[in-house]
Amino acid sequence: MQQILVTVLGLLLCSQIPVWAQSSGLQVAKQWKLISYNFQSTAQASDTNFYNPQNVLITGIAVTADRIFIATPKLFSGVSSTVNWVPKGKLGDSPQLQAYPDWSFSNTARSNFNCSDLILTSVYRLRIDSCNRLWLLDAGVSRSLEDYEITCPPKILVVDLNTDRVVRRIDFPPEVLRGETLFTNMVIDETTAKSCDDVFVYITDTVEPGIIVYDSSKDVTWRLSHPAMYPDPDFAQSEIHNDRFVLMDGVVGLTFDERNGIVYFQPLATDRVFSVHKNVLRAGPLASGQMLDVKLVGKKSSQGIGLAVSPFDSSLIFSPLSETAIASWNPTSNQQSVLAQDRDRLQFVADITTTRSEPGVIYAIASKFHRFFLKNLNPNEFNNRIVRLELPQARSAAIKSPLLTHALSLAPTAPAHNSILHYGIYNQHGQSHVHSTQTSASALQTYFTSPALTTPLTTKTPYKFENTGIVNYGVRSPFTALNQGEAFPPSKATRDNYQRSYLDTLVSSPGPTAAAAASIPAPTSYMQRHSGYYYH
Ligand SMILES: *[C@@H]1O[C@H](CO)[C@@H](O)[C@H](O)[C@H]1NC(C)=O
Repeated sequence: MQQILVTVLGLLLCSQIPVWAQSSGLQVAKQWKLISYNFQSTAQASDTNFYNPQNVLITGIAVTADRIFIATPKLFSGVSSTVNWVPKGKLGDSPQLQAYPDWSFSNTARSNFNCSDLILTSVYRLRIDSCNRLWLLDAGVSRSLEDYEITCPPKILVVDLNTDRVVRRIDFPPEVLRGETLFTNMVIDETTAKSCDDVFVYITDTVEPGIIVYDSSKDVTWRLSHPAMYPDPDFAQSEIHNDRFVLMDGVVGLTFDERNGIVYFQPLATDRVFSVHKNVLRAGPLASGQMLDVKLVGKKSSQGIGLAVSPFDSSLIFSPLSETAIASWNPTSNQQSVLAQDRDRLQFVADITTTRSEPGVIYAIASKFHRFFLKNLNPNEFNNRIVRLELPQARSAAIKSPLLTHALSLAPTAPAHNSILHYGIYNQHGQSHVHSTQTSASALQTYFTSPALTTPLTTKTPYKFENTGIVNYGVRSPFTALNQGEAFPPSKATRDNYQRSYLDTLVSSPGPTAAAAASIPAPTSYMQRHSGYYYH
């Protein structure tokens, strides 16, 4: 069946007919041509450093029962407020963005602020925890695609959605930061939480590739890196319809399968998806020369960012940019499905998220990022959309799988007074701080063992196909070989020998050098106590 779907989709893409837009069940929740804000009467909205609508695009969303929270990072100048909300309201409207928590948090075009203040510089993603708190990951970098000003150190602010007040602030120790660190995405791992402040947070550093782990119960942070988190120069160039753009972004897509403890991640500049078990991340910084246990999950037909996990069957949900589709892959059955394909409404899907308020539904942000980036935006088209999609199982009355709901029994408790969290120092040599829930070695060894290797499905995995040397790149499905049977890491020599790569295009050009090629340093580890503050 899936083979048929994929074949059908391939044919449809080939004939360039926009289809499935209706049948996929894809709904437009919100859409904007150019984004505007609820400016205060005193705002300098005519100052393009404060507001330039051709520079405002969405990269992250979080959804509650009545509100949609929206991150508009400062990729360029003129982004008035980086965190915002709109009422969920009716489908398909174009509401003004309301600055969140309020305008006092915005430091755009201001110089009279102190990085210790409660201000937000540039937020790419936001997440909601089980305690009804919104976590805002502030990269601290302004105009990251222009002059890359490091305005403030990165931080996390946690806002209680019942009161819209900041209740926690997490600052990072300088030892986990690098020169051009850019924190872009985050997973809140509550699987072993005994309270709201007993979570692990995994954070992507896209420009100095790595994953930062924050253990909130001990208030310690460390940095982990792996070559799989670096951009692959062969996939620096992405393509959406007629637009091609070159962006050497490292790890940025991130999601978490709570049921199996697997963190999935992908750089933008790659055709691959990788995974790492939560216990590997939680085990603390690596000793010098030790490699992080990262697994290659599979290969996609093109680059992408947004990732999510289906609460029904732990399928990985992803969006290959060039195919303008949202697709899923089930790691247990190896089944691949196209959930939606839409040439206009599914371009550059930067975030895919589930919401506790609507089990079985995913929301995604789709923008024309490439056209903002290439400065060929058409202001008369819809350039930012929030789309809504019911997962197939939610539509099928026959399947009654229980949804995964991890709910903490404890209500969020505010501290009685402002207090500094206890400092914790990770003991790199002793094992005293290794989290008590670390599973046995066998659990780590067996996670993600490939059913495709042991079941009749083996003959259907496309991996062998890749090595025959006869690959038709003219007809592309959303997946080229998203399977789990590959060894990690594959040698460079065996891959994509027949595909013209970005680097190939540089051969005859004496102009720019391939200086962008990533160097791959040995993994480094850092640990440091750091400051966290309660706000009340
Ligand atoms: C910023 O605020 C912090 C904490 O209140 C203070 O220690 C520091 O001196 C301030 N910096 C400037 C430049 O005013």
